[in-house]
Amino acid sequence: MKVLVATQKPFAPVAVEGIRKIVEAAGYEFALLEKYAGEAELAAAVADADALIVRSDKVTADVVAAAPKLRIVVRAGAGYDNLDLAACSARGVVAMNTPGQNSNAVAELAIAMMIFMARGQFTPSTGSEISGRTLGVQAFGNVGRLVAAKAAALGMKVLATDPFLTPEQIRLGGAEPVAGVEELYSRSDYVSVHIPATPQTVGSIGRDLICSMPKNAVLVNTARKEVIDEAGLEQALEERPDIRYVTDVAPGNYETLRNRFGLRVFATPKKMGAQTAEANINAGLAAARQIVAYFENGDEKYRLNK
Ligand code: 3PG
Repeated sequence: MKVLVATQKPFAPVAVEGIRKIVEAAGYEFALLEKYAGEAELAAAVADADALIVRSDKVTADVVAAAPKLRIVVRAGAGYDNLDLAACSARGVVAMNTPGQNSNAVAELAIAMMIFMARGQFTPSTGSEISGRTLGVQAFGNVGRLVAAKAAALGMKVLATDPFLTPEQIRLGGAEPVAGVEELYSRSDYVSVHIPATPQTVGSIGRDLICSMPKNAVLVNTARKEVIDEAGLEQALEERPDIRYVTDVAPGNYETLRNRFGLRVFATPKKMGAQTAEANINAGLAAARQIVAYFENGDEKYRLNK
């Protein structure tokens, strides 16, 4: 049995070693492909793999087709928009993610980004404090809940909305439920986005929502770039010179935005929300354990393509 870890953006070495130990203790073979150039290299590496662990790496229909022995692919992380689930299902490949395992790292980054923007991207200008401001959490899942708790501890008032939760569930999670995204954006000095990229959410945050935010508001996106309507974002920044955007997932028009709006916009050079040793250990080792549990006991707890 061969387990391939294929990560264009490598895990921390300590996580890779942890995965190796779990795989080898189960009596399987461990293989590693890091910083590969493109799909062709991944397709060649999966040719004899029975199991695959990835991060944001794209597991396309072509990659699945190139892996005749593949029985399980685990996305070590939460968002699985990089997996072609239909292609996996068609070939009988089980697809899983590791929900919650890297959430704290992403939540810490969202908080850091708020403070970074409040303090003028650490330039010597006079900034502001986030204590006393209102944070709107868009989607109250694993990351959203952690952001809410941390923000509340920092003195923020926290609102939240989530189409899959009742107001009571949001209240129990420590935030004030609001009726929907329109109310969330119109009442929040900061909005932190935690929705996945799905056909329903892609391009769903555009000019109207952003322009409805209060004066000097900041939009924080540590989720997916696809959920933002980039032309709408540019229009909103143009119309509202007080609004700012900070993101861990650079928009396609980042250079244009940066040239036009300067320090009102910031994107990390490479997605780094889950890029901590702790998150890599949590998600990577969980992925390895899930593969062993699937092969040994048929455990499908985190299966996505049921
Ligand atoms: C996730 O969906 O788990 C996060 O976006 C982290 O993605 P990464 O593994 O590519 O850093």
